[in-house]
Amino acid sequence: SAAVVTIPVVVHVVHMGEPVGQGSNISDAQIISQIEVLNEDFRRLNSDASETLPVFAPVADDMEIEFTLAKQTPEGLPTDGIVRVLSDQSSYGLRDAIKLSNLSYWPAEDYLNIWVTTLGSSLLGFAQFPVSSLEGLEDASNNRLTDGLVMRYQSFGSNTKGTFPSLIAPYDRGRTATHEMGHFFGLRHIWGDGNCSQDDFCLDTPSSSSEHEGCNLARESCGQLSMVQNYMDYTDDVCMNLFTSDQKERMRTVLESSPRRQSL
Ligand code: ARG
Ligand code: ZN
Ligand code: CA
Repeated sequence: SAAVVTIPVVVHVVHMGEPVGQGSNISDAQIISQIEVLNEDFRRLNSDASETLPVFAPVADDMEIEFTLAKQTPEGLPTDGIVRVLSDQSSYGLRDAIKLSNLSYWPAEDYLNIWVTTLGSSLLGFAQFPVSSLEGLEDASNNRLTDGLVMRYQSFGSNTKGTFPSLIAPYDRGRTATHEMGHFFGLRHIWGDGNCSQDDFCLDTPSSSSEHEGCNLARESCGQLSMVQNYMDYTDDVCMNLFTSDQKERMRTVLESSPRRQSL
């Protein structure tokens, strides 16, 4: 019923002065490979969709959301949607979104900002939740200047097609951005960040008591088979392949009602 929505994206590559294509100054091709993964995953056009366990296939769904690198700057000039910025800080963390935004930012009402940079420790990425009255998001704070995704450059893009030496397995297939985009649109982790009674507010994702790392398709938790292939678990990239209908309803509700793109 709902029409496909296309979202203009700007990627801010916050680098340390390396030549384009080296280190944190990732290539245009690596960025484009990530946008392709997002478009496949959010339209359920991913080639591994066929690997979704048969028991979960009936709830796997097409999110009807697409992403495109912006073609126009906020000033109305032509662009490829990629901004490269030199930084003198060698590593960023969970509290540094505002620093990244101060280096480069396009209005969140018109663009989805993605900052790609060097992140500390083992942080793969993080996203800001939307303002929404949906269960589990009641107290989400939302600063328009930090609205978007912050991504580790070693897990931004996919190694299936080209060879991008900076990408590191098992997070080298672009699924970190798919996962973070789920948060951006209001999805909680599939285990609800708690025990069996803690919910992700989606009925069609089985409860589980903790995250799953690796890829054990037989994993059981809370007395039922876990949906470890869901993008909102912590499974390896090659093991993830679905969002569900209830996750779609949550994301589409945010997309169609969040103040993020109206007046914030
Ligand atoms: N730890 C991150 C988060 O909670 C991302 C996990 C991504 N997992 C992956 N297989 N790429 O937002
Ligand atoms: Zn997460
Ligand atoms: Ca659930």
